[in-house]
Amino acid sequence: MNFISVNDVDNINALVEQALKYKADPFAGKELGAGKRIGLLFLNPSLRTRLSTQVAAANLGMEAIVFNVDKEGWALEFEEGAIMNGTTVEHIKDAAPVLGQYFDILCIRTFPLLLNREADYAETVISQFIKYAAVPIVSLESATLHPLQSLTDIITIKETFKGTRKPKVVLTWAPHVKALPQCVANSFAQWVGAWGAADLVITHPERYELDSAFTKHATIITSQDEALQNADYVYVKNWSSYHDYGKILCSDAGWMLDHKKLALTNDAKVLHCLPVRRNVELSDEVLDSPNSIVTQQAGNRVWAAQSVLSEIIKSM
Ligand code: CP
Repeated sequence: MNFISVNDVDNINALVEQALKYKADPFAGKELGAGKRIGLLFLNPSLRTRLSTQVAAANLGMEAIVFNVDKEGWALEFEEGAIMNGTTVEHIKDAAPVLGQYFDILCIRTFPLLLNREADYAETVISQFIKYAAVPIVSLESATLHPLQSLTDIITIKETFKGTRKPKVVLTWAPHVKALPQCVANSFAQWVGAWGAADLVITHPERYELDSAFTKHATIITSQDEALQNADYVYVKNWSSYHDYGKILCSDAGWMLDHKKLALTNDAKVLHCLPVRRNVELSDEVLDSPNSIVTQQAGNRVWAAQSVLSEIIKSM
């Protein structure tokens, strides 16, 4: 069993319930991973994903070893048939099977380059680990998706929503100084669509449409003020353009979520995957208000990872 997208999950609600059970009793599965070793490979930086997955593995009795491939490893080659007379030192065909000998599960973080959409959306790096490592592969955020984050987001909505109707969840684009991947937005839209227990509205400036493969269950509204009406949750996130790939097309500070924008909602709870650029994506007044549940959300990363890892261990 791999964990790359929501398509690897049979029952989202069961995974969420299991995560909340681990939250109530963190060591309930402490024997499950005994004698097993997990490798966490980072080709890009991380705070939450790295540490929450390590804590989750420890709670299950597993040994976790982190390898910062980008800083400490040989430069990897991913192109089939490459003549390796340049800067890459080791082909994934050689490295991945070795890693598969050392670990029972391999987890990988690999960001897109945002230069070539076809190349990024082919998910070459994570696909080649799946092809050559011969052990279960977990995405710690890939070129197009961030499934552990999305599971966390659903856990956080599930544990905080007290109504009996479906919550209205608005994913809003926000400004940023750097061109960021579409991963979090793609993945959140994909997971909430598959979950079916929330009404999802996505709002963004013109020409920031995401890949429609991920957003088919969402309502898309380009007026942020209209979208925010009666929202129970507002998920704030920047992404660079999918159609004009990797470009920043809008820097309008009016898209930042502040108290005036929040007043349009149903006293919405505010989500963000973090790290957040304060007073660019979200104002201090919102982040420091009781509406913000970003710390609770980040804390839930442990239980999402623990729930996924325990399912993989049970399937081995
Ligand atoms: N949300 C998230 O993935 O955080 P990190 O990049 O710090 O892991």
